[in-house]
Amino acid sequence: MPPCGMPENITSSSSCCAGCIAVQDSRIKAGRTMVLEIKNLRKIGNGTIKDIYQHPVHAGQIIKTVQPAIVASDGGFARHGWLKRNLHQGIYRQFRREIIQYLQLCKTHYGTGQFTFPVETPCGLVATDHGLGLVTEKITGPDGQGWTLEALARDTPLQSRHYEALERFFDDCVRLHIVFGEVNIAGLMYTESRSEQPEFVLVDGIGEKLLIPIRAMSARINGHYVRKVQRRIMAQVAQLQVERGFLS
Ligand SMILES: Nc1ncnc2c1ncn2[C@@H]1O[C@H](COP(=O)(O)OP(=O)(O)OP(=O)(O)O)[C@@H](O)[C@H]1O
Ligand SMILES: [Mg+2]
Repeated sequence: MPPCGMPENITSSSSCCAGCIAVQDSRIKAGRTMVLEIKNLRKIGNGTIKDIYQHPVHAGQIIKTVQPAIVASDGGFARHGWLKRNLHQGIYRQFRREIIQYLQLCKTHYGTGQFTFPVETPCGLVATDHGLGLVTEKITGPDGQGWTLEALARDTPLQSRHYEALERFFDDCVRLHIVFGEVNIAGLMYTESRSEQPEFVLVDGIGEKLLIPIRAMSARINGHYVRKVQRRIMAQVAQLQVERGFLS
């Protein structure tokens, strides 16, 4: 069995496969840990904080890293003061919030065995030469490309299936008690291949941000906040559609 666990990839009588070779080629050794070299990965996107790379083996996964240019040598954000840089997990606190939110959802739904929610599914952590990378599910649209809600509303006339998927997304977030940290129109991605129906998935700003975690503690308070974000995002969608002449 090759290390990647994908026997169908076996290329020859050797014990390895194309996927394993890809991983080996993109790694360097740091002490006892194999570290992925970013220069060997394909960049598929970025935000203001993170870079997003295609996973070298798993087509359905991506690797998120924090852009080195904004990181101080102590692992905090360079623009933050000493105190803030040393609080919590520094540049990794977004990863922590997202993982904790996912653990909470899996805990709550332990009885029903649900592991997929309207948030990207975290798959693990990986060492890279740009620091720790968060491996997550890759969300792709019907054309195989990544479509954020912002791009969709800017570039295409939205159809009823999009509006219905958006409404379902926010209803599910309220029902499932999904806590929003800083959710915006670029942090929602559209797909038609994740389940039986079109859906939006949250890929950024997931999890409790407040010092006193009132939204995580109270589903009612969280629900009010999710609805507030929904109103803001729907107004932005309408504005983009009007600006582009898709809506009058
Ligand atoms: N799970 C995913 N699947 C596919 N593409 C993704 C995924 N997550 C992020 N992306 C792409 O990468 C972009 C940036 O990702 P992300 O929002 O996590 O970075 P960020 O630096 O936190 O962004 P921001 O500056 O908006 O806060 C997204 O807008 C999207 O295009
Ligand atoms: Mg972000």
